[in-house]
Order: sequence, then C-alpha cells, then structure tokens
Amino acid sequence: MAKLNNNYLKLKAGYLFPEIGRRVKSFSDSNPEDSEKIIRCGIGDVTEPLPLAARDAMKSAVDELGSHDTFRGYGPEQGYEFLRCAIANGDYRTNNISVDDDEIFVSDGSKCDTGNILDIFGNNNRIAITDPVYPVYVDTNVMAGNTGEANDDGTYSGIHYMPCNPLNSFVPEIPDEPVDLIYLCYPNNPTGATATKEQLEHWVSYAKEHGSIILYDAAYQAFIQDPEIPKSIYEIDGARDCAIEFRSFSKNGGFTGVRCAFTVVPKELMAETDSGDRKPLHPLWSRRQSTKFNSVSYPVQRAAEALYNDEGKNQINNLITHYMSNAEKLRGACSDIGLSVYGGKNAPYVWVACPENIDSWGMFDKMLNEANVVITPGSGFGKAGEGFFRISAFNSDENVTKVCDRLKSIL
Ligand code: MLT
Repeated sequence: MAKLNNNYLKLKAGYLFPEIGRRVKSFSDSNPEDSEKIIRCGIGDVTEPLPLAARDAMKSAVDELGSHDTFRGYGPEQGYEFLRCAIANGDYRTNNISVDDDEIFVSDGSKCDTGNILDIFGNNNRIAITDPVYPVYVDTNVMAGNTGEANDDGTYSGIHYMPCNPLNSFVPEIPDEPVDLIYLCYPNNPTGATATKEQLEHWVSYAKEHGSIILYDAAYQAFIQDPEIPKSIYEIDGARDCAIEFRSFSKNGGFTGVRCAFTVVPKELMAETDSGDRKPLHPLWSRRQSTKFNSVSYPVQRAAEALYNDEGKNQINNLITHYMSNAEKLRGACSDIGLSVYGGKNAPYVWVACPENIDSWGMFDKMLNEANVVITPGSGFGKAGEGFFRISAFNSDENVTKVCDRLKSIL
C-alpha cells in the first residue's frame, strides 16, 4: 500500500486561519441575523482596490498576449529580467544595498517561499523560531520532518522556541545554544513589533559566528514609518553572508489575490554538506525553482513592475497611509478602554493584551458573539501568544470606526 508522509500526522490542529473561518461560519449559520454585521479583522487580508498603475500594466500585458507579435508562453522560472531588475534597483540599490538582479527570485508568495526554502536545507538543522510566530514556519518544519511530536502545550520537540513578550519588546534574545536556521520576521506578524538596527546586528553577528542562516521575512517592510528602523536585513553589514530575505507585494500593493512576491538569495551565502564542504545556496534555490516552479504569469509580473514607477509608488504610499491610519485608530480604541497595546506603529497589526480573566480564544468568542468582530487569538500563533489577541488594520475606514465603537461597547 502507498505510504503517506507521517510528519503530517504530527500537525496539531488545522491551520489557524481556516480554523477561524470554520468558527465564523458556524456562528453565522446559527445567528443569521448577525452574520451581515460581521467585520473581519482576523486574517491580514487587504481590502482596498488594486493600484491603478498595476491594473493598467496588467491590462496592457494581457493585450500583448492577445497578439501573435507579442505573445509569450513560459517565462523564466526565476522571474522576468524586467521585474528582477526593477526590484533589485527599487528596493535595494537605490537604498545603497548591494543586490544583483539575479539574486532576486520572483514567486507567487512569501508563504510559499518560506515553506519551500526548506527543500534546499538538510534535515539535521537546529531550527530557531520565535513564539508567537506566523504558523507557516512551524508547520512547514513539521511537514519536512525537522521536528519530533507535538507536546501537550502545542510546541514541537526539536524546535528551539524563542519567547517574545513585552519584556523583550517582542524581539528574542540570542539563543544560549547553537542553532542553524533562524526565522525572524520584522515588522513582526503577529505582534507588529519592529527590530532595531542594533538588535539585527546582534543576530547577524551570531549567525556569522555560528554558520547559521537567518530566514528574514520582511513582508511588512513597507509599513515602517520610523526611518531608523531597518527595512531589510541587508542594511546590516555582513548579512549577505548569512541571510535570505523574503518580500511580498501582497500587503503593500494589495496583491493577496493577485499573487506575487520574491526571495533574495545572495551568492555569498553558504551552507555545509554532510561531509563538511561549504557550498553556495544560490544555485540550489535556482535549481529548485526551475524544477518545481514556473514563476508567476506575465501580466502579474508586469503589474508588480508598475509598482516601482512614480505612479505606482504614490499609490502604494496612499494604501499604506490608509492602513496605518486604521492601525492608529485601533490602538487608540484599545488604549482608551485600558488594554495594553503593542505594535500598530510600524506594522498593520495591533497586538493587544486580553482583559483580565479572558484567554485568547475567550476573547475571540467574546468579540465574535458580542461585537460581531473577527480578531485572531494570540494563542493561535504559539504558546507565548496566549493572553493576547491580534487586530488586523486591513479594512475600510468605516469598518475600523465600527470596530472601535463596538470594542468600547463590550469592554
Ligand atoms: C496573517 O493574517 O497572518 C497573514 O495574512 C497570513 C499570510 O499573509 O499568509
């Protein structure tokens, strides 16, 4: 009989967001009169229309595909040169960060890339993951067989968890044991925290000293308002030797449904073979993408490219301003009712301590039942998220005003 991948049986519950979806559906089915009123601030999914620059570019690209002269079939698996160049220039070289066009690998999402990247790493790496965390990093390591079984508290043996809490401003301490792969995400999902240059310097110096690799998820970099906060790990000297960076157009360009992202793999980056030889990772990721991926459609890559022209940049700025104004309102409403609030200043997520005697899922239920608002329970992001909840600022101005009013009315 065919054998399944036993690692999948170790996975604890369903993936967090479908689980929230199931609970919301069950509430709506039993309370049809309230279902119209539900406001979703759970998953960080954008709500505002796609920037005009991207739409125009996408439409022209579709027209090109409609004529023999300009038709294109398969594109390069690593992404079209026009987009790789626009990214390397627009996101890095104009900010004096050295990244070559061919170090950019275009993809259909950072969720996929942060999971798929494990294909090029061995199974004996010690994995360090923050807690709370974007659940994809944990689950993909479980699926890849890099962990043991789940413990009763939902953690997995074999993962080095790095607790993040108000005491360390949600930036983990350097581990007291050697680790090989380190997942960092700043601005952070779910806490909305940011890491300073000095904190990232410590991580880069740790990684270089131990031959570790930092998997740096910068999907929310566009929301950084404070010019002192690094937007890229490569702003830190030496990071090209020890870090892979993941970025996405989902949250800045509103591409959650369109799908386009990219991963930066510097050519200097090395890892060890079983026999101790040092080999570059860049050709491995290129090979992996060539074999398992056919990149993103031409119209979508043209749309992403348009986000780097003046019109596109302005339209992105308007979107960021909109969502950050929501975040400020949500922060204000939570503070007004006496809750401790974190994040939301350089990130689209507001991370809030639950009122006394209510745990994370209790707060989720209370918000759904009494306020008809969907939030994300902090414990869904890990053990250290218990006692917190996350509100996403991705919504309309009108809905955010309602969420603030409803929060105040139930607490
Ligand atoms: C979230 O809500 O944490 C994000 O939307 C998840 C994602 O981007 O995949």
